[in-house]
Amino acid sequence: MKPRVILHNQVSVDGRIDWFPANIGLHYDVAGRLGMDAHLAGSNTIFNPQQPLPPEDDDAFKPPERKADDRRPLLVVPDSGGRLRNWHVLGQQPYWRQMVALCSNFTPDTYLDYLRRRHVDCIVTGREKVDLPAALEELHGRYGTERVVVDSGGTLNGLLLRAGLVDEVSILVSPHLVGGRTPQSIFRAADLTAADGVIDLDLVHLERLGDGLAWLRYVTRSD
Ligand SMILES: NC(=O)c1ccc[n+]([C@@H]2O[C@H](COP(=O)([O-])OP(=O)(O)OC[C@H]3O[C@@H](n4cnc5c(N)ncnc54)[C@H](OP(=O)(O)O)[C@@H]3O)[C@@H](O)[C@H]2O)c1
Repeated sequence: MKPRVILHNQVSVDGRIDWFPANIGLHYDVAGRLGMDAHLAGSNTIFNPQQPLPPEDDDAFKPPERKADDRRPLLVVPDSGGRLRNWHVLGQQPYWRQMVALCSNFTPDTYLDYLRRRHVDCIVTGREKVDLPAALEELHGRYGTERVVVDSGGTLNGLLLRAGLVDEVSILVSPHLVGGRTPQSIFRAADLTAADGVIDLDLVHLERLGDGLAWLRYVTRSD
């Protein structure tokens, strides 16, 4: 079974995701209200190669304690290239009960071994890139995941939207205008060639939040 997939993003009034000062506190408060059991983050979102990483200590290699009643979500990141080397930092954060890397048959064995040694779970699907539908099914099969909140830029969102895998879109509209000719939107994909590729939505929630933000929730229409 495929879990319910909810995109969650903060955008400027002109629909951009860059330049404006995002309200990170409200962003994650609202994400928490969406009721997720897995937090799916794009590898470009969760990892900044420019940021220096603290060295690993012995804790990075200890099996994490698992508690049956732990209700925190999984952190799940597609990383077919095996780029993420910050799992020891992510594992120390209080937000997630367990880390899961999504890899493919292209992911180097050395990286799969790196994950094993750090007790980061791994799902391998797809030839070069991760097979996202199969990975979602496996999340449900292996961990019982029913609700996935996607925290990513337009690339991962775009793949999920074009593949028809998204059930809901949650948007925080931030009171800023950015402008520009190279819009970074929440939906990056090849241009449509026919209007039947437009995804129709139904508005199911509208709320005024602090700091001038508006929260809109839409469900994708299946008819
Ligand atoms: N405003 C907001 O709400 C918000 C929220 C989150 C992030 N952001 C911003 O968005 C930016 C990052 O966005 P981004 O679009 O560059 O990257 P991203 O969506 O964060 O990451 C791209 C993800 O897509 C996967 N991917 C790429 N091609 C694929 C394919 N063919 N099949 C399966 N998976 C594939 C990548 O996996 P591989 O590594 O395997 O290629 C990677 O995990 C950052 O600047 C971040 O700050 C904004």
